Amino acid sequence: MKSYEQLFIDGRWVAPVNRGRFDTIDPSNEEVIASVAAATAEDIDIAVRAARKAFDEGPWPRMRGAERAAVLRRIGKGIRDRLQELAEIEVRDNGKPLPEALWDLGDAAGCFEYYAGLAEKLDEHAETPITLSDDRFSSVARKEPVGVAGAIIPWNFPMLMAAWKVAPALAAGCTMVLKPSELTPLTALELADIAANADLPPGVLNVVTGLGPDAGAPLSTHPGIDKLAFTGSVPTGSRIMHAAARDIKNVSLELGGKSPFIVFDDSDIDAAVEWIMFGIFWNQGEVCSATSRVLVQRGIHDRLLDRLKEETRKITIGNGLKDGVLLGPIVSKGQLDKVRDAVERGVREGARLVTGGGRPAHLDKGYFMEPVVFANVSADSWIWNEEIFGPVVCIRAFDDEAEAVRSANDSRFGLAAAVMSRDLARCERVARALRAGIVWINCSQPTFTEAPWGGYKQSGIGRELGEWGLNNYLETKQITRYDSDTPWGWYIK
Ligand code: NAI
Ligand code: MG
Repeated sequence: MKSYEQLFIDGRWVAPVNRGRFDTIDPSNEEVIASVAAATAEDIDIAVRAARKAFDEGPWPRMRGAERAAVLRRIGKGIRDRLQELAEIEVRDNGKPLPEALWDLGDAAGCFEYYAGLAEKLDEHAETPITLSDDRFSSVARKEPVGVAGAIIPWNFPMLMAAWKVAPALAAGCTMVLKPSELTPLTALELADIAANADLPPGVLNVVTGLGPDAGAPLSTHPGIDKLAFTGSVPTGSRIMHAAARDIKNVSLELGGKSPFIVFDDSDIDAAVEWIMFGIFWNQGEVCSATSRVLVQRGIHDRLLDRLKEETRKITIGNGLKDGVLLGPIVSKGQLDKVRDAVERGVREGARLVTGGGRPAHLDKGYFMEPVVFANVSADSWIWNEEIFGPVVCIRAFDDEAEAVRSANDSRFGLAAAVMSRDLARCERVARALRAGIVWINCSQPTFTEAPWGGYKQSGIGRELGEWGLNNYLETKQITRYDSDTPWGWYIK
């Protein structure tokens, strides 16, 4: 593989000041795939200054939206032109099955194309006239870029999470410093390359790889940053918010979840099993919105559990580059250990381990684990309440709608939720009663660039995607003019 030992700052590839490096690993075989530049506070400072200069003095925030849109479209095309190659890099770095990586990369390209459209719209809609109660004045509300954005992203959808932040930030006219996860840094560096080839002006997008405490922390505290956008765990999100509080940075957070899925007993069992599996085994369950808590109405509970067990056991596990694989390895040794500990804890807590939890017999290398179904999970247990972030689903039975809604909402998280029933009126009613930022009816997980994404409660602050995602990177300014010929007459009569 090519070298990833440089950072992308001010339009150039540069070695980190301290010449630091770290290894990134292929979780399917535990081999080092690349040595990657490890940025420290000094590199972050250089990167933020470059972004600051590009914002304060450069062309990017001053261009017409249509001109920025042309660059965003070229970035989108740059991703599409290398789709297969980038998807394979993503599989090797993260472990996910290739068809999922291809899907993510297509979505990432689509995200740049979508925000290109919104950048063009900004030209017409940046200023909204406001009718004031005093007709001696006229006023407009004007949208302007928030400034320099610092984006810190996780390892579960490396390129897509980069796109969700970079595309709207650039569309808005912001400049930015992006720090990918140290577990999956490669495609963010490829994105820098693609952006440079798309004639993005120097300093607009800077990509710095490095460890959380060494590179992420100094980015979150840097006084040159106006806005922090973070996706990842709740504890790190809380640290980011503390850092932002010191000098009142604008902050948006997309954090964890323990999203419920309510299945009523008039549901088709196969459809329910399909969506339950997609909701928790897709991307190895390493999905912030994974529907990891399933509430099944008692009438179909036992039959559904049997089907779920049968289908879960059929899942083909292996290297994500192999044809037909539906579940890749867990991203890292550390994450595998966490998921295993959670499974052991579930057993100790008295939940019934229906299937999974072991290492697949045919795989002696790599961070693999058989997908897990737990039943009879008690509502006050750790596994029912805490995010596991792996292929582990917990099932409980319920009797009526009120109990299901109460139980679903009984969580400190509120990212997503799903409800399934043939009775659409019931689905619509339950969807409105659920305290979550995303509710799926008769499905789980499908995600669209046009629709708002984000959490209630401890699942985060703010919304990404759609127009909401663009607004994340915009300030609103009022410009108010005194139009009257009559003197104001307060001091000077
Ligand atoms: P993390 O939240 O610590 O890491 C996410 C990003 O934050 C990475 O780029 C990391 O380098 C950076 N970071 C870490 N410490 C930082 C600090 N002090 N200041 C600034 N940036 C920092 O997540 P991690 O350690 O990769 O995974 C831990 C757990 O988080 C997982 O087991 C999972 O439960 C959860 N998680 C949730 C995600 C979500 O989308 N909701 C995504 C990834 C992890
Ligand atoms: Mg890796």
